[in-house]
Amino acid sequence: MKIENRPYVILNAAMTLDGKIATKTRDSEISSPEDWRRVHRLRAKVDGLMVGIGTILTDNPKLRVKHPRKNPLTKIVVDSLARTPVNANIFKYRGNDRIVIAVTSKASKKKLKALKKAGAKIVVSGSGRKVNLKLLLKKLWRMKIKTLMVEGGGNLNWGMVKANLVDEVRVAIAPVIVGGKKAITLVEGEGYTRVREGLKLKLVKVEKAGEDLVLTYKRKG
Ligand SMILES: NC(=O)c1ccc[n+]([C@@H]2O[C@H](COP(=O)([O-])OP(=O)(O)OC[C@H]3O[C@@H](n4cnc5c(N)ncnc54)[C@H](OP(=O)(O)O)[C@@H]3O)[C@@H](O)[C@H]2O)c1
Repeated sequence: MKIENRPYVILNAAMTLDGKIATKTRDSEISSPEDWRRVHRLRAKVDGLMVGIGTILTDNPKLRVKHPRKNPLTKIVVDSLARTPVNANIFKYRGNDRIVIAVTSKASKKKLKALKKAGAKIVVSGSGRKVNLKLLLKKLWRMKIKTLMVEGGGNLNWGMVKANLVDEVRVAIAPVIVGGKKAITLVEGEGYTRVREGLKLKLVKVEKAGEDLVLTYKRKG
């Protein structure tokens, strides 16, 4: 597939055998140590790393990169209303990395000012209730982001799938089942009505990372 004016998107996640990326209480310690090493290797290779505001507010991830990089990594939070706390770990552990908060024009000026002061670059993508992901990716492309790793959570993953912006999926499946209709699955959102509407993928790689099974899929067509 020819991709024009947007980064190549790799959606990466660790999930349980029953497809959850966090339990009903939002525990998301799913990856094996070996899988964490794979994630860090991938983070070291991409130009951008994107997460949703739900993940920032729930997990407060550091999003560190444990391997040397040639250029700073750009970490993007998809956050329509600029709810990212200025004392979030992504700021504390930023190192040389760039932080982008992607908002809509509905975000409060006061919050934007505080985030800028904390060192974030603000990218306004659309004027609706949610970030316009297609527009955001165009803007990231102009910022020289050619490869983008999306690390969830489930609602951002749906936004990316629905907007037809996912080129590759890498999923580590841990040998554990947690159940729970209130747990977060790999892809949330309203979902499609028919299977034939879904994102079609082809399996290109099967590997093991410790006890986890790592599957790599590329989009078909
Ligand atoms: N196991 C793993 O690999 C893994 C990885 C990451 C996260 N997680 C887990 O996932 C959970 C968080 O997932 P989540 O679904 O609650 O949150 P999320 O996907 O991280 O963030 C979703 C939020 O992003 C914002 N957003 C803005 N524009 C959007 C758009 N166009 N499409 C979709 N979202 C948009 C929305 O908030 P606004 O409307 O306020 O902008 C939305 O509620 C946590 O429990 C975390 O532990 C697991």
